[in-house]
Amino acid sequence: MTVPNDPGLLLRAVDVLAGPRTEMAADFYRRLLERHPQLKSYFEHSDSAALERMFVTALRSMMMAASSPAEFAQQVDQLTERHQPRNIKPEYFELFTEVLLETLADYGGDAWTPEVEAAWRAVATQTAGALSAGSSSAA
Ligand code: HEM
Repeated sequence: MTVPNDPGLLLRAVDVLAGPRTEMAADFYRRLLERHPQLKSYFEHSDSAALERMFVTALRSMMMAASSPAEFAQQVDQLTERHQPRNIKPEYFELFTEVLLETLADYGGDAWTPEVEAAWRAVATQTAGALSAGSSSAA
């Protein structure tokens, strides 16, 4: 899957970040952990502010994929390094991606068109793939 070269596609959907991002981040983690309780132990020591930062930073990094590919690659390397010691199972990154796309869809409203969804799916899949490859090589 290739990352889209139209930055607008990734930016538009995330206009919501300027809006209810605290609610959206909380909603994302609630869904993730309710549906996949096996992930709870990773976030035991994270407060809601840390989770919101993670959520917003994750989306911002992904948004760079189209406009600044070099910077995106650098961020993904950093994220891979920072997730490596957490011993996260590779398949957990897929669960994370699915719930992320679902949450964006719910908050994206009319901006969440099939093109925007495809663009986000491509970039989220690429990011999760890189992070999970880095995590499994550490295991
Ligand atoms: C594509 C998938 C993911 C992205 C883009 C992502 C992104 C991030 C970012 C930006 C941070 C904050 C900066 C840092 O501490 O490095 C973070 C922290 C963290 N991530 Fe992820 N993450 C992903 C998947 C996961 C998964 C699947 C898990 C566990 C099951 C996980 C567990 C954590 C934990 C425990 C933290 C520390 C939170 C804290 O500060 O308390 N991440 N992640």
